[in-house]
Amino acid sequence: MIKYGIVGAGYFGADLARSMNRIEDAAVVAVYDPNHGKEIAAELGADNCASLDELVSRDDIDCVMVASPSYLHRDPVIKAAEHGKHVFCEKPIALKYEDCKAMVDACKENHVVFMAGHIMNFFNGVHHAKELINEGKIGKVLFCHAARTGWEEQQPTVSWKKIRSKSGGHLYHHIHELDCIQFIMGGMPKEVTMTGGNVYHKGEHFGDEDDMLLINMEYPDDRYAILEYGNAFRWGEHYLLIEGTKGAIKLDMYNTGGTLRVKGEGESHFLIHETQEEDDDRTAIYTGRGMDGAIAYGKPGVRSPLWLQTCIDKEMAYLQYIMKGGKGTKEFEKLLNGVAALESIATADACTRSLAEDRKVKLLEITGE
Ligand SMILES: NC(=O)c1ccc[n+]([C@@H]2O[C@H](COP(=O)([O-])OP(=O)(O)OC[C@H]3O[C@@H](n4cnc5c(N)ncnc54)[C@H](O)[C@@H]3O)[C@@H](O)[C@H]2O)c1
Repeated sequence: MIKYGIVGAGYFGADLARSMNRIEDAAVVAVYDPNHGKEIAAELGADNCASLDELVSRDDIDCVMVASPSYLHRDPVIKAAEHGKHVFCEKPIALKYEDCKAMVDACKENHVVFMAGHIMNFFNGVHHAKELINEGKIGKVLFCHAARTGWEEQQPTVSWKKIRSKSGGHLYHHIHELDCIQFIMGGMPKEVTMTGGNVYHKGEHFGDEDDMLLINMEYPDDRYAILEYGNAFRWGEHYLLIEGTKGAIKLDMYNTGGTLRVKGEGESHFLIHETQEEDDDRTAIYTGRGMDGAIAYGKPGVRSPLWLQTCIDKEMAYLQYIMKGGKGTKEFEKLLNGVAALESIATADACTRSLAEDRKVKLLEITGE
C-alpha cells in the first residue's frame, strides 16, 4: 500500500486525491488545506492535518502531492523532501527559476522522486504525436505554434488565478503548451522574445495579469516556435501545430481532434483524449461558452470535466507505478528528473524578462549554464 498526503485540496487537489484513492494499493491518508481540509478529508476517509508540518512529519506518508495555489508550492515541496517523502507537484512548479531549482535540488539531495504535474503529456493525442514524430512520419520538426486564447468578461470576484504574483498569469498558469512544445522540440530554445501586456482587462473587476502575450522562441538550428496566450482574444483558440519537413500534425483542443497531414497521403485523424465521447465533450464545453474560448478556471467544489478526469487517472496511475518501484519510461523521463519543470520555468522567466526589458533574452541568462 502506498500512502499519500495532499497539500491543497481545492478544485484540482481534491480530484487528484479522489483519483488516487480509486487505485488499488493506494490511499490518501492525510490532507492539509486551511480552508477545505476538513470536508475533503472526511470525503476521502483521511485525516485532516492542522498544519503543513503535521502532514510532512507523519511516518505513514510515502508521497506528498502539492496542489496549493501556485505561489505556495515551494515550502511544501522542500519540507516534504526534507522529511524523506516523494513529491508530486502541480504546474506551474514555481513562479521563478530560483524556486524551481531549490525544489528540484531538495528532492535530489534527499533521494526522493520529484514528479511534475504536466498533465498534457498524458493526453492520448500528445502521446500519438510524439510517436508519429519518432517514427519520422513528418520528418524533421521545424516549427511549432500553440495558441491558448479567449475572452474574459468582468469577474464577480477575482480569483488568485488572475493575480500575477500568485499564478504567474497566463504564461505560467497555462505552462502546458510551452512544456509540450519543449518536449517536441527537444528542450529549451536558445533565446526568446515576448511582447504584449495588459491591453484591456484593467480595473477592480479584473486581476493584474497580462491579457495578451505573444512569444517567439528561437532554436539554434533554424527551428522556431510561437506561442499566444491571453484573455483578450474574441476569437478564442486552443491548439498545437507541429510543422515538419515531410508533414504536419495539428492537435486541436477547441474543436477537439488530432490531424496528421503527410504529402502524398492526405489527412488522417486521431483522438486527443481516450474516446470520441471525451473529445466531443471537450468541444461542447468550449463551443457551449460562445466566444470566450480556452479561458476556463476551476475552483473549490467544481469537478473536472470528463476528458480531464481520464487524464488525471492516467497521471495518478503513473505516479503510483513509480511509487511501487516501476521503471520510468523514456517518454516521461523529464517529468521525473526535474528537467521538464526547470526548462519550462526557465523559458517562462526568459519571456518575462524579455517583456520587462523590451529585448531578446538568451536562456543562458536564466539558467547560467
Ligand atoms: N494540471 C492541471 O491541469 C491543473 C488544473 C487546475 C489547477 N492546477 C494547479 O493546481 C494548483 C491548485 O489549483 P486549483 O485549481 O485546485 O485551485 P483552487 O483555488 O481550487 O484550490 C487551491 C486550494 O489550496 C488551498 N490553500 C490555500 N493556501 C494553502 C496553503 N498554504 N497550503 C495548502 N493549501 C492551501 C485553498 O484553500 C484551496 O482549497 C495550482 O498550482 C494550479 O495551477 C493544475
